[in-house]
Amino acid sequence: CGIVAYIGQREAYPIVLKGLKRLEYRGYDSAGVAIINNGLQVYKKKGKVALLEEELVGKDMHSHIAIGHTRWATHGEPSDANAHPHISGDGKLAMVHNGIIENYAHLKKELQNLGHVFKSDTDTEVLMHFIEEIKKSNQCSLEEALRIALKRVVGAYVILIVDQDNPGTLIAARKGSPLVIGVGKGEHFLASDASPIVEYTKEVVYVNDYEIAILREDELILKNISNEIQTPYIQKLDIELAAIEKGGYDHFMIKEIFEQPQTIFDSLRGRLDAKKGTLTMGGIREYADMLKNANRIIIVACGTSWHAGLVAEYMIEELCRIPVEVEYASEFRYRNPVVGPGDVIIAVSQSGETADTLVAIESAKEKGAIILGICNVVGSSIARASHAGAYTHAGPEIGVASTKAFTAQLAVLCLVGLMVAKEKGAITPQRFQHLLDELENVPEKVATTLELNEQVKNIAAKYKDARDFLYLGRGYNFPVALEGALKLKEISYIHAEGYPAAEMKHGPIALVDENLPVVFVATKDSYYEKVVSNIQEIKARKGKVIAVITEGDTIIPGMADDIIVVPEADELVAPMISVIPLQLLAYHIGVLKGLDVDKPRNLAKSVTVE
Ligand code: G6P
Repeated sequence: CGIVAYIGQREAYPIVLKGLKRLEYRGYDSAGVAIINNGLQVYKKKGKVALLEEELVGKDMHSHIAIGHTRWATHGEPSDANAHPHISGDGKLAMVHNGIIENYAHLKKELQNLGHVFKSDTDTEVLMHFIEEIKKSNQCSLEEALRIALKRVVGAYVILIVDQDNPGTLIAARKGSPLVIGVGKGEHFLASDASPIVEYTKEVVYVNDYEIAILREDELILKNISNEIQTPYIQKLDIELAAIEKGGYDHFMIKEIFEQPQTIFDSLRGRLDAKKGTLTMGGIREYADMLKNANRIIIVACGTSWHAGLVAEYMIEELCRIPVEVEYASEFRYRNPVVGPGDVIIAVSQSGETADTLVAIESAKEKGAIILGICNVVGSSIARASHAGAYTHAGPEIGVASTKAFTAQLAVLCLVGLMVAKEKGAITPQRFQHLLDELENVPEKVATTLELNEQVKNIAAKYKDARDFLYLGRGYNFPVALEGALKLKEISYIHAEGYPAAEMKHGPIALVDENLPVVFVATKDSYYEKVVSNIQEIKARKGKVIAVITEGDTIIPGMADDIIVVPEADELVAPMISVIPLQLLAYHIGVLKGLDVDKPRNLAKSVTVE
């Protein structure tokens, strides 16, 4: 979910509305706003922010305070009633919430026994009534009631509350979900991330867990849950407005795909100097010894970031000879894993806010493991919860399906692998230098690959009506196959499976017939010959083969139905190149099917609930 708010001298509603559009990538099942104009006014609607905006055209939205929400449903289906803001029983307080209140069912019963009636199925409305109940029964201020309530609440949240009796004050609290406050002149902006704020001010405060913020036009008071004043730490935002706008592209996704030569370069910048043969990872240098002596490296992540982790597993094991495991954060957390001192956890996350990953590292930290965070969003929760880490520097990623963040993660993980291999003396100087050169050449090769855009679009048109797709690859290209399949599922709603090419014959081969497109990631690497055999196995069963191959390949073009030729690269860095056509394929199929590729149904970019 995304939350946004404004308090200050300007008209609040247009600022909050624009902010909601910027945050829509975090969820878009429903949207709503609350303003104070002759009392509290709350408007909310199922569907995207544009629908809410349409409904409010012509309404008197004058107010100097507003809160807004764009939702990714957890409790209760997307509907007008379940949309935020939620109001108190007396209609005076309104609240937006991002996160989950785990003990809401219990609280709800308690409140129902006291006569509270609920209009929605959400945990948020329960929390709103709970705060109202405490405020009334204790005859205390809203701030005090909030503090008491939060001590009883189990879960993760960012909440924002407005009170019609106190229209000059906005109250916010955070635990587990992100909250950024933008500090302007005579005004404050609040949001789940900096994107709605950057066009107004570059001065921001990241609110910490268990903090409550009391905001007025010209005052920001930060307190901890024990009511002690905290000094706000004002930081300078380093993102530019252009980075969060489409800049002439039809969609954020294609803009971000095309940014990759630059973003990969940015991930390497200041770290890699192939000419000098040096590599520096400032953020994790002090942990280099720990890494090289680690019993095990465990990579925890979700979704696309998990695929980057799989590539890193192969890379780090090969380069450093340290055992690596890659875990879905959600599984790792709940199965009581064997982890402790001597283990290094690498958390990989674009947003740095994924709840599953955050909780996973917190529990591993308690058990004594060292945590390194590889995040894209600077100042994000995972970055802050880690002992050390390296940012991927891909810039804001807005398209829900991750593209440039993935290749940036691969670049940084490759640097980490090389750094540890060097420290450990596990790599020859020649191979080290060769890989530095290869890495440095990746941005240019990605740029060359992007020239295939039109060709991939034609392939997309040919296969867009297929019901299923299979994506196959081996070795370093296996996670690329998984990622290609995930992209297609996310963007086009076509069922797609990624599989290790050889494992295909142990099951998925049963699906193969003349209607099944099979995408092979078959670039020249140590598995190449074997993959050629796998292509033949598919062709023998009349499957349609689309193959991503290396330039100069003379064998596969004679076998495949369609080929996509990419520049040659060492297999360690090849995934950053071979994934590009798969991103483009998913994008074009989605567009050709008329779908909203930047906001695919049911998904959210940053899932801040477990
Ligand atoms: C969500 C997104 C995915 C993303 C995953 C992990 O499910 O829809 O695109 O890969 O979360 O996100 P993270 O921000 O932790 O990389």
